[in-house]
This record gives sequence, structure tokens and C-alpha cells, in this order.
Amino acid sequence: MKHKEMVYLTPMPVRIWHWLNAFGILTLCITGLQIRFPEYISVFGAYKAAIRLHNTAGVVVSISYILWLSYYLLVARSLIKLYVPTLEDLKSGIFSQAYFYFLTYFFGRPNPHHSRPDSKFNPMQKAAYLVIMLVLLPLVIVTGVLLMYVSPLRELLLLLGGIKMLVGTHFLLACCFTAFLFVHIYLATLGHTPLAHFKPMWDGWEEESVDDSEPAKTVGS
Ligand code: HEM
Repeated sequence: MKHKEMVYLTPMPVRIWHWLNAFGILTLCITGLQIRFPEYISVFGAYKAAIRLHNTAGVVVSISYILWLSYYLLVARSLIKLYVPTLEDLKSGIFSQAYFYFLTYFFGRPNPHHSRPDSKFNPMQKAAYLVIMLVLLPLVIVTGVLLMYVSPLRELLLLLGGIKMLVGTHFLLACCFTAFLFVHIYLATLGHTPLAHFKPMWDGWEEESVDDSEPAKTVGS
């Protein structure tokens, strides 16, 4: 037998970080496009205005990233548990999750992963979020800061391959974020209703269907 249960999945600091970060990254993508292709895109009027907005959004995303990292490392102390895939995840979990997303979802089969406060993400989410949050986001922040202070950091820039290399890397990272955003938003709509995974990012709570034969787990955060 199965029953429905409300699970508190996303604490308030994570929700505030997420939407600040999402808004900031979207602003960065749009202003970045205008800065890169000014002859085709002019969403924010003058070129200089787009640069100012891009730099401001970059600072907001960087500060909120430091807060996110501090929260997970020092307050919740659950970064490794939630975000690092286990050996089991890598050996089989990722494949059964991909099988669900690519095939069985379309036949109405249930998601093999049930979110719990101590196991919020399925193996694919863990792998993707780990790369995004601990590799790509820090890299885009560092390359962005270097590009904001080209003159004072000239020596360091030359050591890292010069400005062209840096601009290219920053642009490539931005492309990764744009691709991630499309996949992230699409996969987030694959809950038992299209908005089921959005709800916990708004009020913290998600409705989960629980198998009565499973051993009970603590709910909280
Ligand atoms: C408009 C843009 C965005 C929307 C609509 C959105 C939507 C969502 C939703 C519905 C969830 C909860 C379900 C899930 O875990 O998949 C989520 C979680 C998450 N998203 Fe996004 N997202 C956006 C942008 C971003 C961006 C730009 C990043 C990273 C750079 C990001 C990183 C994450 C992370 C790390 C989580 C898990 C948070 C946690 O519970 O610790 N999202 N997002």
C-alpha cells in the first residue's frame, strides 16, 4: 500500500538563494548576449547599460554563491551527503534514473527516486548539481571577476593565457549554463504534476508517495 506524505525538502535559505541565483543567471545570460552580439541584441538599451547590469548581476550571483556554500558547509553540513553521488549512484542509479527520464516516464511509471530531506536528489541531479555548483559556477565567477578588473590583474591575466583565452572560457561557461537551464527547467516539470517540484522551491514542502512497507525515515531539515 502507498500513502501520500508531505516532506519538508527545501529550507528557506536555500529557496532564497535559488531564486536570487536563477534571476541573476538569467540576467547574466541576456545581458551577456547583448555584450557579445551588440549588433543583433539590444534588450537593455545602451551597450554600457548592459555591461553595468551584467557586472551587478555577477556580484549578486557571486555573493549569493558564497552564502549558499557557507550554508551547506557550516550550517546544514549536508553538502557531501546531498550533492556527492555514491558508488551505487554511479554504478546503477544514474542509469535507472536516465531510463526513467528517457523512457518509462512516458509510460506513466513512477520515478525510481523518492526525495527525502537526507536524500533530496536523484543520482542524475546529484551529478549535475555537483558539476554546476562546485565546478562551473566557481569558474564562471572567477573568470568574470578577472574580466571586471582587467587592468589591475593584467599580470595574472597574461599568466592564464591572455584576455582572448579568458573571454573564450567565460563565453563557453555561459553556453553551458544556458544549456543547463533548459534541461533543468524541463526535468523539473517531470514530477507527478508539472509543478510538483516547483512547490518545494517556493514553500519548502513536497508531496511524496510513500510505500508503507518501507522503513520509516525522519522528516525534517
Ligand atoms: C528560471 C530558472 C530556474 C528555474 C525555473 C529553476 C527551477 C528549479 C526547481 C523547480 C528546482 C527543484 C527541483 C529540482 O531539484 O530539480 C530547482 C532546484 C535547484 N536548482 Fe534550479 N531553477 C532555475 C535556475 C537555476 C540555476 C541558474 C541554477 C544554478 C546555477 C540552479 C540550480 C539548482 C540547484 C542546485 C537546485 C537544488 C537546490 C537544493 O535544494 O539544494 N537553478 N530549480
